[in-house]
Amino acid sequence: MDKILVTGGLGFIGSHTVVELQNEGYEVVIIDNLSNSSINVLDGITSITGKTPLFEKLDLKNKEGVETFFEKHNDIKGVIHFAASKAVGESVQEPLLYYENNLVTLVYILKELKNLSSANFIFSSSCTVYGQADELPITEKAPIKSAESPYGNTKQVGEEIIRDTCKVTPNIKAIALRYFNPIGAHESAKIGELPIGVPQNLVPFITQTAMGIREQLSVFGDDYPTPDGTCIRDYIHVIDVAKAHVIALKRLLENHNKSNYEIFNLGTGKGSSVLEVINSFEKVSGKKLNYKIVDRREGDVISAYADTKKANDELGWKSQLTLDDAMRSAWKWEQVVRGK
Ligand code: UD1
Repeated sequence: MDKILVTGGLGFIGSHTVVELQNEGYEVVIIDNLSNSSINVLDGITSITGKTPLFEKLDLKNKEGVETFFEKHNDIKGVIHFAASKAVGESVQEPLLYYENNLVTLVYILKELKNLSSANFIFSSSCTVYGQADELPITEKAPIKSAESPYGNTKQVGEEIIRDTCKVTPNIKAIALRYFNPIGAHESAKIGELPIGVPQNLVPFITQTAMGIREQLSVFGDDYPTPDGTCIRDYIHVIDVAKAHVIALKRLLENHNKSNYEIFNLGTGKGSSVLEVINSFEKVSGKKLNYKIVDRREGDVISAYADTKKANDELGWKSQLTLDDAMRSAWKWEQVVRGK
């Protein structure tokens, strides 16, 4: 079976994708520098799939390390590239760190792919490239707005780097997947989201608050022009996101792609407000969440949810799981992590 490199394969979306790849019979090699992940995730993957992926602890900023890796694994057929930094606020404080972590590393990998006879590349992009879109739901044709943060800019420029490379490098085929808001965990609760420090994203903050690790969730603003006044996002179960990666990879491996660089949105097509997410959590957990409404968070878009038609029709992928499923699995995972 084809050998697939998954960078950032011990991270949140990476680890769930490794599970799906191994379930489909692919041989997986993970590169991860463990900067925002734990080596224990490897045990979780092994326990779910019965197979331990190959693992190399490597920082992709180490150019020689990347070269040596590809010399050793010259039979790699595909690369799913998750490894990146993703904290919006931190990226504003440390732009160079973000440009180095997210773009320099991308260039090093693409340089190696140029040397392979045929390379299939899947890139983790984000709906953040759309900013506040003028029209909802957001299609892949929506204009790319000037990025709100260096993090967002790395996704925009990352896509451009891949597009420009594919234009002149026929042996590289690529798909950029623009994720909306991935949440949840594997139903086994053996892998899930493991934020280091105070979570920046909504769902881990909710589960940690319910667990008593955080005192209270701050809901950032209830005076937005939405039905209940809180922001709207397209929350998608991480398992659906992981499955989309396997389908996208197969599309390239089997030459079903329409051009050698394609873009797809990964969302459910349904927007949920912050209060709806809290309600879903309370329903599936049976716990009341301690939260309060505070001021708006700078840089938040009001509403973002995907038009999923292109992914449904062309990629042949559709999200299957619900917001309740995702919140249930996130809560189960939080309890297991805390040993409760
Ligand atoms: C944003 C980007 C996403 C990017 C991600 C990286 C958009 C539309 N989305 O996610 O593409 O990958 O950053 O981290 O640009 N909230 C609270 N209290 C909290 C935390 C969050 O009320 O403590 C609210 C936010 O205001 C927002 C929603 O919950 O309305 C989701 O926030 P979050 O999980 O941080 O994701 P995005 O900001 O949508």
